[in-house]
Amino acid sequence: MDRLRCLFCDRTFSFDPFSLFCPDCREPLLFDPAALPEKPKVRGGCAPAVERYLDFLPLTEYRADLGLGEGNTPLLALHALGEDLGIPLLFAKDESRNPTGSFKDRGSAVAVPHAATLGFGRIGTVSTGNMAGSTAAYGARLGLKTVVVLKEGAPSSAVLSAGIYGPTLVTIRGDYGRLFHESLEVGRVLGIYFMNSVDPFRIEGYKVTGLEIFSQLGDRAPRFVLVPVSSGGHFVGLMRAFEALERAGRLPRFPTFVGVQPAACAPIVRAFESGLPKVERVPLGSTIAHAISTPAPPAGNAVLELVRKKDGLMLSVSDEEMLEAQRTLAVREGLFCQPESGAALAGLKRLAAQGGVGPDDTAVLVLTGGGLKATAALQSRLPAAHEVRLEELGLRLRSLVG
Ligand SMILES: Cc1ncc(COP(=O)(O)O)c(C=O)c1O
Ligand SMILES: [Zn+2]
Repeated sequence: MDRLRCLFCDRTFSFDPFSLFCPDCREPLLFDPAALPEKPKVRGGCAPAVERYLDFLPLTEYRADLGLGEGNTPLLALHALGEDLGIPLLFAKDESRNPTGSFKDRGSAVAVPHAATLGFGRIGTVSTGNMAGSTAAYGARLGLKTVVVLKEGAPSSAVLSAGIYGPTLVTIRGDYGRLFHESLEVGRVLGIYFMNSVDPFRIEGYKVTGLEIFSQLGDRAPRFVLVPVSSGGHFVGLMRAFEALERAGRLPRFPTFVGVQPAACAPIVRAFESGLPKVERVPLGSTIAHAISTPAPPAGNAVLELVRKKDGLMLSVSDEEMLEAQRTLAVREGLFCQPESGAALAGLKRLAAQGGVGPDDTAVLVLTGGGLKATAALQSRLPAAHEVRLEELGLRLRSLVG
């Protein structure tokens, strides 16, 4: 169960929480699916999400009493938007329904209890936002000492949404990109398990989302899955869910995975479009999509490899497109996601404009995080309210709404 494999050189390693990258390839190590049952079964419909898919995961048990009710998020049919776009079979997997408002809880729900099982009393994470709050929440739930390392100048919403759970909060001056690997080294010395964005147990947790999508579509894969991508951990986890289904002989056709990055910081898109063998670091451009802007994504090459192997796509979208998509999801469907999650819809619109999606195609937008926690980007776009004197309410409403 604790065997990890490098996607690039195929060597296997035993799980070591301080050494999660292949020493030769410097690529993330992932669980070796060969260790899992050949014919995995899905358990009872109302069980907690991780427990339902335990056969697909390198875990022997799941303690629901240690979870926070994560997963089993709705797959919502987007009728109005589907009609607008000529894609009637359009769905949103709404990951904002997780306990701390993002998909990160899927990973924390697996990685944090596993750390406790290994005997760790201290965990940590390097995050600019959602992962900080998620790890701190699960750390609190399990009574672990949690260290959260944020970027210097992190917005107060990030400090608050992680800080409320009582972790040791640190803000870092210096190269935040280097910190990812540095934290693992410091963790080794201090006995802190830093579970960052491409931790193999987190990635296993993300698999559950893909497995839920398959079940929710009636044991069928969608034609397209659209996902905002930063470090690449989530994307890899989702793809591996469908690889597991393929291995179990349950998938006639692999879905086309579409990774979407902000145009201002799109290293994987650049490598994909230019046919580069590896992802190269790009400058961190200015964008409102902070949660998905990583100049050197730690799982970037893994994403590139999987996208090439499974005929996926990588697209970039502008800030304007993301903000517009965010607004469209709210106005047309009543879904308030982060602008970063709007990237999934913006990517679909791009694809549709290129004629890449047809009316018979099932498409799933993975809405990775909720909008309420991330209102900073919208401050300059506050919707205007009509100022009305109380005595004139009826009169004015008649002219406003008819
Ligand atoms: C809302 C949101 N969407 C997407 C992502 C990208 O996920 P990953 O870093 O696993 O690619 C993040 C990462 O923090 C996020 O917070
Ligand atoms: Zn390797």
